[in-house]
Amino acid sequence: MEFLGVAISLALILLTLVYVSRRRCDVGGAKLPPGSFGWPILGESIEFLFGKPEKFVGDRMEKYSPAIFKTKILGEKTAVICGPKGHKFLFTNEHKYFTAFRPHPMQHLFRSYQGKGAQPQPQPAQTQRADESKIIRQPGFLKPEALTRFLGKMDSITRHLLETHCADKEVAEVYPLSKTITLTLACHFFLGVNNPERIARLVKCFDDVTVGMHSLMLNVPGTIFCRANIAAAAIRKELITVIKEKKEAMAFGSPMHDILSHMIVVTDPNGESVPELEIADKMMGLLTAGYSTVATTITFLMKYIGLSSEVYEKVRAEQMEIAASKKEGELLEWEDMSKMKYSWNATCETMRMVPPLQGTFREVLTEFNYAGYTVPKGWKVYWSVSTTNKNPDYFKDPEKFNPSRYDDGESPPPPYTYVPFGGGPRMCPGKEYARLAILTFLHNVVKSYRWEVVDPNEKVEGDMMPEPQKGLPILFYQY
Ligand code: HEM
Ligand SMILES: *[C@@H]1O[C@H](CO)[C@@H](O)[C@H](O)[C@H]1NC(C)=O
Repeated sequence: MEFLGVAISLALILLTLVYVSRRRCDVGGAKLPPGSFGWPILGESIEFLFGKPEKFVGDRMEKYSPAIFKTKILGEKTAVICGPKGHKFLFTNEHKYFTAFRPHPMQHLFRSYQGKGAQPQPQPAQTQRADESKIIRQPGFLKPEALTRFLGKMDSITRHLLETHCADKEVAEVYPLSKTITLTLACHFFLGVNNPERIARLVKCFDDVTVGMHSLMLNVPGTIFCRANIAAAAIRKELITVIKEKKEAMAFGSPMHDILSHMIVVTDPNGESVPELEIADKMMGLLTAGYSTVATTITFLMKYIGLSSEVYEKVRAEQMEIAASKKEGELLEWEDMSKMKYSWNATCETMRMVPPLQGTFREVLTEFNYAGYTVPKGWKVYWSVSTTNKNPDYFKDPEKFNPSRYDDGESPPPPYTYVPFGGGPRMCPGKEYARLAILTFLHNVVKSYRWEVVDPNEKVEGDMMPEPQKGLPILFYQY
């Protein structure tokens, strides 16, 4: 009898719980997106971070809805908005429903962290200042006019580094090479730093920070997040030294054209300049955004071109025509870049096959409805290239590397299916810079070399950040 009583009360409690939780899902008739919040605390972070990203979204789109699903990742309730319609909705409603959001590990590494007591050194003034994306959008550092000035120097730095790292009939690992080239360019244009030892020290640190941006926030020795914190501290220290040196040089009146010198002289409406630590954080953010993405693209571009003589010949023909139009020793100019159409299509196809950046987060400002579901205020929204980039409905033979699929004669991918740089007002501000850096590399490498990929089946590691397991060794033949 007693047993029955207990059983009945348990059943009642259970029913109430089910009812209450149901109710909570449907507040005021609003229907939350389908999906699962996963484990307590962790949510689905493990699956998100350590599974293939396209599998994470692909599985859930199939199971719950191809338009939207809910999950909990990196400590936040998140709605993942999928497909071209989802991309369009997000990119065209940017300020109406959304504001930028960086995952907590990223906030922590870049010190903009506002969370519960986790802040190492509080910097209250920081919230009122523009983030680095605003800073680089405003003075137009990465706009075509400014980039035109960079281009010749970009060409000569790239040429020089290729010559010193690649010799005839020798094997060179492309991934470390492309990282060195990319960071050298970024240090030059963003910081005005040319010292190779300094750059070599920074490469390793930036790799650790980049991996740590999407990681579990476990700050104990040996974890990815802990390594990232140590690396971020080292970068900050190096950048503070750079800032002090630069201030000294500027005091002596040396002319400066880099972004860092602009940040040093710029003042807020009260006439106050930006504190050194904050400049260091912002420069670190900018370098991180612009470094690994470009290096990854160059690396996989070398791989795919190396595996297809047809693509190689087309790229080389295009680049040799440009080279032939120039005098001995003349550097690349803006008009040359617009002639690199096939080369850019090959680059785009590389980014489709191996997206250098999966996607980004937003925070929901105002509750909104999408595809019949309601997403509450305060939730996060995530979009990812992986909800479209290998869908056979938009890309025929999606696993095939085929730069010609973008030709006007073929049926080019529909709008919003191909968005490696995002879209709308938050679209990557470094897109043009990235295009110049990648095409300048390609121009120089096909002009001087043929190459052979040593291991065509080399494994690609890394989930959020793809990288070739052995650094992509390539055998170079000089013309
Ligand atoms: C192949 C290279 C690159 C790819 C694929 C790429 C991709 C992206 C994507 C997808 C976003 C997010 C857009 C969004 O949230 O809607 C982004 C943002 C950003 N990128 Fe890039 N990017 C590349 C290179 C660069 C470079 C070279 C720089 C700097 C010079 C840069 C600086 C930034 C910054 C500062 C943001 C944040 C913008 C914001 O929050 O408003 N990126 N990038
Ligand atoms: C490259 O792609 C664009 C579309 O993005 C297309 O209009 C053009 O025809 C393509 N060019 C070549 C040479 O493949």
